[in-house]
Amino acid sequence: MPVLFEPFRIKVVEPLRMTTRGERERLLQEARYNVFRLRSEDVLIDLLTDSGTAAMSTRQWAAMFQGDEAYAGARSYFRFEEVVHSLTGMPYIFPVHQGRAAEHILFTLLGGHGKIIPSNTHFDTTRANIEYTGAEAVDLPIPEALDPETPHPFKGNMDVERLEELIQRHGPERIPVCLLTVTSNTIGGQPVSLENVRAVKQVLERYGIPLFLDACRVAENAYFIKLREPGYAERSPWEIAQELFSYADGCFMSAKKDGLANIGGFLALRDAELAERVGHLLILWEGFPTYGGLAGRDLEAIAEGLQEAFQEEYLQYRVGFVSRVVEWLTEAGIPLVKPAGGHAVFVDARRFAPHIPPEHFPGQAIVCALYLHAGVRAVEVGSLMMGKRAADGRHLAPPLELVRLAIPRRVYTESHLRYVADALADIYARRHELRGLRLLREAPFLRHFTAELEPL
Ligand code: F0G
Repeated sequence: MPVLFEPFRIKVVEPLRMTTRGERERLLQEARYNVFRLRSEDVLIDLLTDSGTAAMSTRQWAAMFQGDEAYAGARSYFRFEEVVHSLTGMPYIFPVHQGRAAEHILFTLLGGHGKIIPSNTHFDTTRANIEYTGAEAVDLPIPEALDPETPHPFKGNMDVERLEELIQRHGPERIPVCLLTVTSNTIGGQPVSLENVRAVKQVLERYGIPLFLDACRVAENAYFIKLREPGYAERSPWEIAQELFSYADGCFMSAKKDGLANIGGFLALRDAELAERVGHLLILWEGFPTYGGLAGRDLEAIAEGLQEAFQEEYLQYRVGFVSRVVEWLTEAGIPLVKPAGGHAVFVDARRFAPHIPPEHFPGQAIVCALYLHAGVRAVEVGSLMMGKRAADGRHLAPPLELVRLAIPRRVYTESHLRYVADALADIYARRHELRGLRLLREAPFLRHFTAELEPL
């Protein structure tokens, strides 16, 4: 295998703490078999999320010292606005404290009972913010996306035919906006092609429906387009992203991912009238429109981080790292979502532990085993996160049962991930010993964050 070259050197280090198997058994039991309830100090390698967990660069830390903390009209806002405007081409740019704050504001204005909001695939907070308003969130992935083995280059694509059917069945007046999530997180960090964005846009234009991007991993998506879509090899990831945004009427981005920041995000719009209404809610819920729930120094970190996230050497390393881990796990025979995605490795829990039915959370069984065995924290993206309960109490399983090993940006080395891959291979070799879990308590929405479980 070629050397994986990290385009940075390490200046500050944070020690990791190993626990014993006995300690982890107690800690997991106290956490009610939900790894969101663990203390991060009790985790050796934390692959819970790639969100807000990036290591910042010297340039980002230096920029933070330049933060202008004025309530209104801060210099840091204008620097942030210039970068976001250059990327998205959108005239109205609102900072928010993170992605879901943008979702809350947007769907409060566009959602509501009777409304339907389609996407290639909604992320959990996006879906929850839509459903909270009474609207319906509909996923329209291409069929290949639902088969972990199919090696389609753009599994994040939306099924354009089903989109048109949906519009004709319900009428365009019930569909206030259509989303494309780039990359598609819940089905494996898979990219959307520009060809697909153009096709979706064409259909939407015919019915007068605006297109919005959920753009938190847009740099990774742009890099996949450069690698895989004919005609884009010579374009820079930044230019490719500019073309992506050119088809959209608006977007929101959690800068905790491809903003390389630990907090923050934005909502960007083309429509002046919608922007005015967003501005009012922003003041109510987030803050004055030139800081939107962030400190001036956070805006600086994002302005710098966004530009670094599009650097080609960085993206080559980033995407190369994820596919390296996929290669190791494939060698161990572990069933995965293929091809490798941008921010995480996704294990196919259904084939890993076929003896555990969806209602007993096969993905969560693997997550618990990985923590017990090696102190590694992953996250379930399956029946616990996205399953539903039918009116008669039956469990409705989502199409995929996955375990996500999300790779924080610029944080772990190849040896850290080799350790994780070896640990997972050990568990796979003894997969018949895995046991399912039972839910003891759950919240009315986003239940995976706080649920309490027990092993069967
Ligand atoms: N959209 C997508 C596609 C996401 O992955 C996330 C967050 C959000 C929106 C919400 O952004 O967290 O800043 O409020 N994803 C994280 C994850 C939490 O672990 O995948 P946020």
